[in-house]
Amino acid sequence: MTIDIPALLAALTLEEKAALLDGSDFWRTQPVERLGIPSVMLSDGPHGLRKQPDDGDHLGLLDSVRATCFPPAAGLASSWDVCLLGRVGEALGRECRAERVSVLLGPGINMKRSPLCGRNFEYFSEDPHLAGELGAALVTGLQSQGVGASVKHFAANNQETDRMTVSAEIDERTLREIYLTAFETVVTKARPWTVMSSYNKINGTYVAESRRLLTGILREEWGFEGLVVSDWGGVGDRPETVAAGVDLEMPSSSGAGTRAILDALAAGRLDETDIDTAVTRVLTLVDRALPALSEGSDGFDADAHHALAREAATASAVLLKNDGALLPLDPDTGGAVAVIGEFARTPRFQGAGSSQVNPTRVDSALDALRAALDGRREVAFAPGYVIESAEADPDLVAQAVRTAADAEVAVLFLGLPPSYESEGYDRDHMDLPAPQIALLHAVLDANPRTVVVLSNGSVVTLAPWQDRVPALLEAWLLGQAGGSACADLLLGRANPSGKLAETIPQRYEDTPAVGTFPGEFGRVRYAEGPLIGYRWYDTRRMPVAYPFGHGLSYTAFAYSDLDVTVRADGDDPQVDITLTVTNTGERAGTETVQLYVTDPEASVHRPEQELRAFTRVPLEPGHSERVTLTLGRRAFAFWHEIAADWIIEAGTFGLRLGASSRDIRLETTIALPGDTYTPPLTADSTADQWLAHPTAGPWLRTTLGTDGFATLLSDPHTGPMLRAIPLSRLTRFPGFPVTGEQVGEAVVKYRGD
Ligand code: BGC
Repeated sequence: MTIDIPALLAALTLEEKAALLDGSDFWRTQPVERLGIPSVMLSDGPHGLRKQPDDGDHLGLLDSVRATCFPPAAGLASSWDVCLLGRVGEALGRECRAERVSVLLGPGINMKRSPLCGRNFEYFSEDPHLAGELGAALVTGLQSQGVGASVKHFAANNQETDRMTVSAEIDERTLREIYLTAFETVVTKARPWTVMSSYNKINGTYVAESRRLLTGILREEWGFEGLVVSDWGGVGDRPETVAAGVDLEMPSSSGAGTRAILDALAAGRLDETDIDTAVTRVLTLVDRALPALSEGSDGFDADAHHALAREAATASAVLLKNDGALLPLDPDTGGAVAVIGEFARTPRFQGAGSSQVNPTRVDSALDALRAALDGRREVAFAPGYVIESAEADPDLVAQAVRTAADAEVAVLFLGLPPSYESEGYDRDHMDLPAPQIALLHAVLDANPRTVVVLSNGSVVTLAPWQDRVPALLEAWLLGQAGGSACADLLLGRANPSGKLAETIPQRYEDTPAVGTFPGEFGRVRYAEGPLIGYRWYDTRRMPVAYPFGHGLSYTAFAYSDLDVTVRADGDDPQVDITLTVTNTGERAGTETVQLYVTDPEASVHRPEQELRAFTRVPLEPGHSERVTLTLGRRAFAFWHEIAADWIIEAGTFGLRLGASSRDIRLETTIALPGDTYTPPLTADSTADQWLAHPTAGPWLRTTLGTDGFATLLSDPHTGPMLRAIPLSRLTRFPGFPVTGEQVGEAVVKYRGD
């Protein structure tokens, strides 16, 4: 079933067209019954369907239909598994179809600029390449089911403080290289049906009112052909947002948006073609949604989706540390296992706010461990703390200490209480609650063989206590099957393969946005530029608790036989990097090989290294595989602010292959000829810049002659100082053989060379 968009455009009245650009309620587009245009439904997302009853809110206060709660992005991203994300996307699509939801509001692919952002649990990474690839995979999977994605929040919505008004002050290179890249990847690779504009401003302009972003970059540069929907309540001046490119305002503005559009048309602020463009996009969305709506759905298999949620959770946990191979625990032999911590019984498996899913069921780690050990090893439980309490409970601590002391090994579940991180506000600090830390020390005193399992949506400070802990599993928020996944990993029924998608810093004070996050007086300066996450720590050679990309396995992997082929080195470089990965241990496992590129000779300050490719390699023990990663143009280019384009500079580039950003196993260099871009000269360009210019340089040398200033300019002592002077200023020096007029003529003559 399709709709005839040109015919509908001709038949719709102006009032109907304006109304189509507004929601009809919290979650639906407007129908036009007389012309048979149905309404379609959009719902949160992103890690499960949050379809609310008709009188729903969007803040997570009211209930929603039951749906599978997959791991939120902070977990899923640690899998580094694009296939898995595709399958999760497909499952999300099936659930949406079953509920007649046409657009799932996600994924969220903003960058984790500060560990304190309250919504980091909903975002993938501090690295735009990783976030872009994972986001694209999820969108492709979802849309394969005839359900659209809404990639959000475009763009630079990296904090919750003042999220609806704050202006992110970002230089163009940083914006392009860090904050827009993941969106560009998802838009160009996965063609999402919709993009959600963010609440905030960038450099003083509301994103929803930025024609440059929503039309210039998104559509004209990247070729986006879908619909832009406002974030909920993210529209102020509706005509301005229509002109910028926000096609659909959500939720319903109760007619205010429609009236404002009609008034703007009457006043000549908007043209009817602007309205037709936006209406066409709304109708195209309806058209795309209709096949799935009319075909219907057989529902979804809740058991199969729970199993997928468990697989995803297992792939998402990161084994940070495992001294003395304390893990995995032997399920058959050994004494009692003390399971300590309320989170083992009452799991925290997702974050709060608009993404909160009503799960089909929830597995607790305690139940899962009991079921798995099933009488083979005794499992004793002590809650240890009250999740939201700021005070330690001495009785609970004493009971936990006794339980730990009587056991052969203790597994201690710690984490952030739900109130510590949520949509709508940022965190105050990175620490676990004090009662949990006190419990940790008490349990370790009683039994040093203590494994810690963490449940948190964003990083927590580990440095003050982790040296005492032999084994540490970062279990993030793992969705409804996270408890079973933890049991599988702890008992070795699954081998950990997760890798950190964000650095765990030693302390908050080391993080890149200290002092500028979350900003002052409505502005947040991104003063660290492109140095976010590991780009910051690695460039500054700072110690971290655990580096980006880190994650252990119960087996070990060796990297060898690096081979690099530069298949093309012109405008579109193609570089193949091939290596052998070997499983040198005794268990099957999966390694994620990471490829970082360095540009040590750049004329701009570039990060120490940047992730440009990765691949997962599953291997049986003793087996090897030869894998190839391919790099293209963007792996070497930076955003050149004068050229307003991606430029590769000639020179040597480093290629580093590693198991994390700090565990580089193989390294080599390649040389690329680069682009021939020459920045245009002005009268204020320095003598150096003039001399380096391919056509103006020879002219200047000839005009300077061979003695006097020519000698001084090439002298090793006076030359560097003189050549740093703008040519127009040198012309004023007595005896300088080039006049200001000649420089003015040369600027015109050599422009464009
Ligand atoms: C959030 C979006 C969400 C929307 C609808 C907004 O407040 O920022 O992520 O999709 O509400 O609930």
